Amino acid sequence: MQTEEKHPVSLETLTTLCKRRGFIFQSSEIYGGLNGFWDFGPLGTELKNNLRDAWWRDMVRNPPPGPDGEMLDIVGLDSAIIQNPDVWKASGHLSGFNDPMADCKQSKSRYRADHLFVLMPPDAEGTAYAFLEGEENAARKKVQRKAKADPDRYEVKPFPEVASTDLSRIQGPDATEPGTLTEPRQFNLMFKTFIGALSGEGDENTAYLRPETAQGIFINYKNVIDTMRVKLPFGIAQVGKSFRNEVTPRNFIFRSREFEQMEMEWFCHPDEAEKWYNFWVETRLNWWASLGVDLRNLRRREHDEDELAHYSTACADVEYQYGFTAPGFGELEGIAHRGNFDLTQHQESSGTKLEYMIQETGERVLPHVIEPASGLTRGVLVLLNEAYTEEFVPKGDTEGGPIPANPGAQAPEGYETRTVMKFAPRLAPVKVAVFPLLKNRPELVEKAKEIHSELRKIWPVNYDQAGAIGRRYRRQDEIGTPYCVTIDFDSLEDNTVTVRERDSMEQVRVPASELATWLMSKGLSV
Ligand code: GAP
Repeated sequence: MQTEEKHPVSLETLTTLCKRRGFIFQSSEIYGGLNGFWDFGPLGTELKNNLRDAWWRDMVRNPPPGPDGEMLDIVGLDSAIIQNPDVWKASGHLSGFNDPMADCKQSKSRYRADHLFVLMPPDAEGTAYAFLEGEENAARKKVQRKAKADPDRYEVKPFPEVASTDLSRIQGPDATEPGTLTEPRQFNLMFKTFIGALSGEGDENTAYLRPETAQGIFINYKNVIDTMRVKLPFGIAQVGKSFRNEVTPRNFIFRSREFEQMEMEWFCHPDEAEKWYNFWVETRLNWWASLGVDLRNLRRREHDEDELAHYSTACADVEYQYGFTAPGFGELEGIAHRGNFDLTQHQESSGTKLEYMIQETGERVLPHVIEPASGLTRGVLVLLNEAYTEEFVPKGDTEGGPIPANPGAQAPEGYETRTVMKFAPRLAPVKVAVFPLLKNRPELVEKAKEIHSELRKIWPVNYDQAGAIGRRYRRQDEIGTPYCVTIDFDSLEDNTVTVRERDSMEQVRVPASELATWLMSKGLSV
């Protein structure tokens, strides 16, 4: 997407833009919000749908060729969010889908214990200061201010490794005195609900909102084999909502309690699982790059053994350098080698045979599974991070192109700053904007509306007649519209229009009758 190395954009800048321009709002905002929940506005919905559709097209309808050039067979699914609670017993989520948490008895805050660190003083006495991942600098300042000590002499320790005898001298991140943090205890992340009109809150009526879309695939694996004539290896994919009662939802939509996932379970012969694992890790990283995400901001990270989820024998993450993790990276997608853990568990728990018979040899196998699992919501955050650009542009948009600028930098004489979201055209929420040069000239307005109504049959198109053309361009730049079309007096004479391209700001005249075809030739897909 960009060639210049970009400065990381802060979450504050992104959340402000998202609210102001209708991408993402705090959920239940007029009631004071609800921590860990977000609502997608008109533009955010388009952006998210475009990312979802790109994934579906490239993973289900037209997946890439396999490692030996073979065609891959992947089918789609849309399973229920609430499933028989036995699913979660078998999958291990009821007993094992836990995060360690610690409570602060004073501030009533709750923390993921594995996200907490402590600045321990050099001697066995004195207050130690707990801080959340990413907030070490603030904690160091607290040591200087409160303990009047040199923070460099303090040791950073993960909270779960601190001896329980030291708890009484640890001051929590939001506390004003030490000794208020509890010992870490396990907390199950699944949201509970109760089924049936007469249901009480007894165990027999308890059900769970799915914490991943994957289990819906495993429990439908036999249905798909019996109905779709798929042959091993094959994939089943689904996109949908998942729910996790996260202890500390943080960083905008990065970690929320309700989010969407895009997951594909790739069923293969156990002897080939390693080959497919490597294939999918490579393929998935390249897919994100194909959407215009700069490869310098992506990396592959293999999990250490002690990081692996209960079901997984190997896992690699595709990580992205978010503004709030920079210069570090954070997870975007995980590609897990799940072995035959899930099929074994569901076969044993349900009593239904889940083996696959290889027709040619008669061999029966319980397939192994490679799972590329990414967050759709988190993917949107990556697209927003990646697209956000500030540039200096000549005032009045007349001569000269844009000059890269660091966020917040002062524009030089004769220039102004523009914010432009450089979404790849296939992902941009609005594809084209149509402007009459002047709103008080009916002949211009009429022609602009005519063109608008033709183009909107094909794409999401904005019509804007308010204010100077330069301001209208800025409004569209800020939401990432790739093309703006202006109808002027020449248009009335020769039936051509001016098309202005977002990134280069270059303008060309295009015959109105060829406009849609011209835009398609520039990468606007239907
Ligand atoms: N089925 C495997 C699975 O769910 P995961 O790593 O827990 O694996 C996959 O989740 C992806 O879902 C993550 O890489 C992330 O993009 C997204 N995700 C997980 N928890 C999330 C949360 N609380 N908020 C937003 N996205 C989340």
